[in-house]
Amino acid sequence: MTDQTPVATQAAVPSTRIDFLYLSEPDMIAAGVNDAAACVDTCEEVFSLLGHGDYLMGGANHNNHGMNIVFPKESPFPNMPVAGPDRRFAAMPGYLGGRFDVCGNKWYGSNHANMTKGLPRSILTMMLNDKETGAPLAMMSANLLSAARTGAVPGVAAKHLANPDAKVVSVVGCGPINKACLTAVMTQLKQVQQVVCFDVFLDKAQGLAAWVRETYGIEAFGVDDAKAGVEDADVITVAASRLKPLFLQDDWIKKGATVLVSGPMNSDESFLLDAKIVYDHTPLHEAYVEDAIGSGNKEGYYSGVIGGPFYRLIDAGILPALPASTGLGDVVNGTKQGRTSPEDRVIFIACGMSVFDIGWSYAVLENARAKGIGTSLNLWDVPAQG
Ligand SMILES: NC(=O)c1ccc[n+]([C@@H]2O[C@H](COP(=O)([O-])OP(=O)(O)OC[C@H]3O[C@@H](n4cnc5c(N)ncnc54)[C@H](O)[C@@H]3O)[C@@H](O)[C@H]2O)c1
Repeated sequence: MTDQTPVATQAAVPSTRIDFLYLSEPDMIAAGVNDAAACVDTCEEVFSLLGHGDYLMGGANHNNHGMNIVFPKESPFPNMPVAGPDRRFAAMPGYLGGRFDVCGNKWYGSNHANMTKGLPRSILTMMLNDKETGAPLAMMSANLLSAARTGAVPGVAAKHLANPDAKVVSVVGCGPINKACLTAVMTQLKQVQQVVCFDVFLDKAQGLAAWVRETYGIEAFGVDDAKAGVEDADVITVAASRLKPLFLQDDWIKKGATVLVSGPMNSDESFLLDAKIVYDHTPLHEAYVEDAIGSGNKEGYYSGVIGGPFYRLIDAGILPALPASTGLGDVVNGTKQGRTSPEDRVIFIACGMSVFDIGWSYAVLENARAKGIGTSLNLWDVPAQG
């Protein structure tokens, strides 16, 4: 027998061992979760996949935002959670195609009362899974992930819909989500000279303005008056909570302005009809309307969702039906037009989709693997159930 002679071997038995990576919040930071420019690039890719249809989200229509546990007003069971401000659990599953080709689920609990315990309003985790076997690939701390992708979505919109010479940006609602939105928008608009921060709490607005001055070295100030907050703005990013209804009047919004809506707001019908409306993804909004009809209380449901003011006008036949409307994926893919002139006022509506969590968490996981970040956890060597 020479060295080259093949040795008869048994067919290799595939390993059943499953390990996955656990990424804590510090691990996520080290793996680049806060890289806003990279997150905008990834989310732009996700918009393109959405436009082509290479994704699945929850529900029979493949387009559900997610599934919530809604707590009852009261319960005969002493331990059962009851309704409270911003109190819910939500699961947001999905599959994302393209180079990602992976399944995932973002899962979070939200409770306004967390603030009194020094905790964020919501606490989020993200799971990525192999699309064939369901095996976990990674479990991640997802507060920063979720904020980064929520910010990056209007960041992509700013790139494709805003006038590129925008000088004044207004931030409406000065919580962590809008800070992430502003951060992403600033990666795309290079001529911004002034940021106006508006919050019902002046100290929050001033706090964000101080951060803007320190971070970007440009003029920034805080106000607690809505008109003063938006009247000079070329780009308005809206992500206020539901503490107080937010109404931005038509005559406060400049010609050529782009309003990036990531949280609830309403305006005069005249503005909603005058503006060019671009949705994040029209089938998502069709799924919201389906849910609203199924809830038996369409009006109540509309009042609780970001798209509500638009769905009412669609139902009344005043705004075009959703299938005939424009999604940002269509604009990114060049199949539909967004802004048609520098004078247009444009509204972009983003309601949050699991595919953005999946896309950005996959990119962060790739970074973590390349840099050896995270803790490997073992699910099993051999499954006990055989
Ligand atoms: N579209 C998405 O994908 C997505 C994802 C996550 C969160 N959100 C939404 O973003 C919003 C902000 O989230 P957050 O975690 O930063 O909340 P937060 O409660 O930490 O901060 C929100 C801020 O908005 C301010 N505010 C409330 N009502 C206001 C009003 N009428 N005018 C001006 N300011 C007002 C509050 O004082 C607060 O400072 C929420 O509505 C949340 O549901 C959207």
